[in-house]
Amino acid sequence: MFRPQLQAPSLLLLCALLFAPLAQAQTQTPDQQAVASAHPAATAAGHRILDQGGNAFDAAVSVAATLAVVEPYSSGLGGGGFFLLRQQREAGVEYHFLDARETAPLAADRDFYQDAEGQFQRDPALNGPHAAGIPGLPAALVLLAEEYGNLSLKQSLQPAIDAAEQGFGVTERYRMLGGFRLEAMRRNAETTRLFLRDGEIPAVGTLIHQAELAETLRALAERGQAGFYQGPVAKRLLDAVQAGGGVWQQVDLDNYRVVERQPVSFNSFGMRVISSPLPSAGGIALANLLQGLEVLPRATPGSAAWTHQLVELMRRSYRDRMLLGDSDFVEVPTAKLLSAEHARAMASSIDPRKATPSTELGEPAPFNEGTDTTHFSLIDSQGNAVAATLSINLPFGAAFTVPGTGVLLNNEMDDFATDPTGENAYQLAGSEPNSVGPGKRPLSSMTPTMLENEEQLAVLGTPGGSRIITMVLLGALEAIEGEKVESWVSRPRFHHQYLPDHIQIEDGAFNPEVQGELEALGHTIKPVGRDYGDMHAVHWNKQTGELRAASDPRGVGQALIKRNAGQQTQRRSEPRAVTAD
Ligand code: DON
Repeated sequence: MFRPQLQAPSLLLLCALLFAPLAQAQTQTPDQQAVASAHPAATAAGHRILDQGGNAFDAAVSVAATLAVVEPYSSGLGGGGFFLLRQQREAGVEYHFLDARETAPLAADRDFYQDAEGQFQRDPALNGPHAAGIPGLPAALVLLAEEYGNLSLKQSLQPAIDAAEQGFGVTERYRMLGGFRLEAMRRNAETTRLFLRDGEIPAVGTLIHQAELAETLRALAERGQAGFYQGPVAKRLLDAVQAGGGVWQQVDLDNYRVVERQPVSFNSFGMRVISSPLPSAGGIALANLLQGLEVLPRATPGSAAWTHQLVELMRRSYRDRMLLGDSDFVEVPTAKLLSAEHARAMASSIDPRKATPSTELGEPAPFNEGTDTTHFSLIDSQGNAVAATLSINLPFGAAFTVPGTGVLLNNEMDDFATDPTGENAYQLAGSEPNSVGPGKRPLSSMTPTMLENEEQLAVLGTPGGSRIITMVLLGALEAIEGEKVESWVSRPRFHHQYLPDHIQIEDGAFNPEVQGELEALGHTIKPVGRDYGDMHAVHWNKQTGELRAASDPRGVGQALIKRNAGQQTQRRSEPRAVTAD
């Protein structure tokens, strides 16, 4: 049976990784602004705030809050996410990572989803208040505005408040995602009232108004973190969760903090890659995949040999997932997993002539991640940039809306290994690091990422559950190969996650010749439908000064670039919001 070796990381290497300032001298600016998000209203909100003198971080508040309104199926005040920031300072560039992941309430423990007979219950991990972690997005919006923005939180939240009051139109995407969750949505009266019509998914074009959500956004704008985590909104959250059998307490809300973490950072293919640390599994996997590919013999992108190399690296990297969990609670050999040596060892175990059956490598980590989330990428005219991936997990989260607040709760608790004995047929304790624990954050695949060198900056990310990481990899490789940003977001996708042991592909992702060669190497190929993911990316060519931005043609998002004349001279125009913390 496979037992991963937990090795003590080299202290020096660990210190270097943890404390090396991610800064570099850098003085150019793009003199334009670009926003690419999953909804045109959110892209417009970002530009509105940039036009008012906001910087990228104010724009991120605005885009994230507007997505929370117009994509209730993807993210929201009842959810959380990760923000990767590039801050252009006079002394150089700094990168920051805001971990606004949902947190398990204090009353949740390892056996939280077991009934009195010790049987694992799936439904409460997915539906209703038991499924919800303590939300992180409201705290992140406050922190972004207070610590990084130029404008007041109130000003940056205004576009979202307007969108909530004016309503947004139902799209085919809303209908499709709602369709997955209709039964769960019908169980909750407030979700039914707000997001269904006569108990059915509304017709395309139906306006969804969210007056209570506008009020909650106002409370946040007026009172900062206390506007959500204390006072009337908090009371409503607790009353509804507890009435629904949930275990949230005021102390859980009081305790919620965004954690500012050191991003994962490594060099590969002549670029600095800056990505997501634990509790995201993404940065570590990208380090394995890119550093591993780099030491393998160069193969033509798109060829069977190249695809084989990537798939074999994916297989090996996803196997390591069983070691991962919230590093504030469990010991993870992060330095080792991120190291070039580890990636080299992975690469050297690949046989160029045949696929390695996953069972030969050992047992997998069970994980079950949701099917909707959102991402946006943006850059301001000063070179500040944000890549943010935000989630409530499944479409419409836990399908549980708190009356009087418009807050639809997440079901991110299901990203824990909710059944500690595992769905894994071998009952391997392999995902123990990701078991539920009080105050712990569930492992995530969300991987907002940037790649940078003297010539260019790439900002990208996508939703897509466990496939997020391989989509970001494919996008990053496009950037490395010098392909246009439109190609990063639209290129055909393939994925391997160790188990099930097959290559998942979008229909038509491989031409018949490549497919035949891969099958001859022993790979099983499984088309998983027309398409997946919803990538939004920005590219800054520092040599020509050109900005480009692109939204995934698979979604309904929009990328927009604008020249912004006023930004450099405008400063904060209103006092900052006051918080109780
Ligand atoms: O954090 C995670 O990995 C998941 N909750 C993300 C879910 C997701 O991306 C679904 N998107 N389509």
